[in-house]
Amino acid sequence: MKIDLRSVVLTLAALAVLGLIGASAVVGLGLYNVSARAGHLPGVPWVLHTTFLQSVSLRARPEALTPELTDALASLGAKHFDAACRVCHSAPGYERTATMRAMKPMPPHITEAVGDWEPNELHWIVYEGVKMSGMPHWAADRPEEVWSTVAFLTRVQRGLNRQQYDALTAVPKADPRGFAYCATCHEKSGVSGNPHIPRLDILSEEYMTRALRAFRSGARDSGIMQHAATEVPLADLPRLASIFADQEPVGDAEPLTSLALRGRRIAMEGAPDSDVAACAACHGPWPDPINPAYPSLSGQYRPYLETQLRLWRAGERGGSEVAEIMHQAAARLTDAQIEAVSAWYASRNPEELNQVNAGRN
Ligand code: HEC
Ligand code: HEC
Ligand code: HEC
Repeated sequence: MKIDLRSVVLTLAALAVLGLIGASAVVGLGLYNVSARAGHLPGVPWVLHTTFLQSVSLRARPEALTPELTDALASLGAKHFDAACRVCHSAPGYERTATMRAMKPMPPHITEAVGDWEPNELHWIVYEGVKMSGMPHWAADRPEEVWSTVAFLTRVQRGLNRQQYDALTAVPKADPRGFAYCATCHEKSGVSGNPHIPRLDILSEEYMTRALRAFRSGARDSGIMQHAATEVPLADLPRLASIFADQEPVGDAEPLTSLALRGRRIAMEGAPDSDVAACAACHGPWPDPINPAYPSLSGQYRPYLETQLRLWRAGERGGSEVAEIMHQAAARLTDAQIEAVSAWYASRNPEELNQVNAGRN
């Protein structure tokens, strides 16, 4: 049989035009029913879900990069989950509301959602989200933060019960209401006792107000704090900052190790050969008066300091109007210097701050 190339091309072109007209009619005339009540066409949920499963296995980061999923991380993750995820996935020991069940696709109850995913796979899902399903991506470009929530999800896999969940997410009794919410993570005293949740009792109202505004606008990245800072009205932020700033710092510091002593040198003198300025010029310790926009570091938790210094160095912590100063100060720090200087500031007794304040008055 002889194939007439010309008529093949013409037929294909005619089909393409018809297809386009059909598609335009569906889109332009509203022929496709977007009703969630009507649900998806047969087969579509299967296609979407299978695509999702395959996509996760293909893209999750290597298992070897999973950090130790400690109780401290899980505790922070539980509190974030309660504020940001529970609205769709409910919580261990609780039922889903009728509204959660009316979503298409229906968000699985968290005890089902965790399935038997590996931590690296859960990390991918929670960081990336799932397109066309309502499952949001992490609210900031901070992949390392997501491990807290993953740590919590692994506890759910192991059968965390309702009492344990309630204990992890208990909101302390406090006024005003927004403050009680903040205190879920930061405690009323501002001293969380969790090395991943910075202590606030050592910080000034001015510094914290700037930080909160930066989280709120998205200029400082943190999926956890961007969520928290948008849960309360903008106008309340300075007030919340002032309540924490009014807390008396209490003595609670790490021991002075040889690592910390190496850090002391960097903090006090800098590292002139590698062009690192003395931190103390801006951060203290005292008694020099310090600009209230410059945070105090004495007694701050070591893992938190290390994380922030890595973010500064990588140019990934943005935010307040004075953030650029700190980018420059951290640009040339080595990993070893970051560990040492963090250990030293974590070993400072924050009560010194009280004495300095008393001396000033
Ligand atoms: C607005 C609703 C909504 C919010 C908020 C939400 N999710 Fe989801 N989530 C979904 C939906 C819908 C799916 C189902 C996606 C699918 O199967 O295609 C899902 C899927 C998941 C899955 C995978 C379940 C599976 O099918 O294997 C996990 C794990 C998960 N969510 C965890 C979280 C965590 C942790 C948070 C908070 C950081 C969160 N979700 C916030 C709606 C939500
Ligand atoms: C779910 C836990 C959680 C809740 C709730 C929470 N925070 Fe935070 N907060 C964190 C974590 C974690 C960080 C560290 C963020 C980072 O890594 O950048 C932080 C950081 C901060 C900082 C910056 C501290 C610094 O040294 O720069 C301030 C200020 C702050 N929070 C205030 C608040 C206030 C006010 C509220 C209530 C509106 C609140 N937080 C609610 C966990 C929480
Ligand atoms: C020239 C002044 C200056 C010098 C020198 C400096 N810093 Fe900073 N640092 C700042 C300012 C200003 C901020 C607050 C930036 C902001 O609010 O966005 C800051 C913030 C920080 C933070 C974040 C604290 C928190 O609570 O989140 C850490 C950690 C830090 N500096 C550590 C250091 C270390 C370690 C050194 C020495 C290697 C150093 N800084 C040197 C000015 C300085």
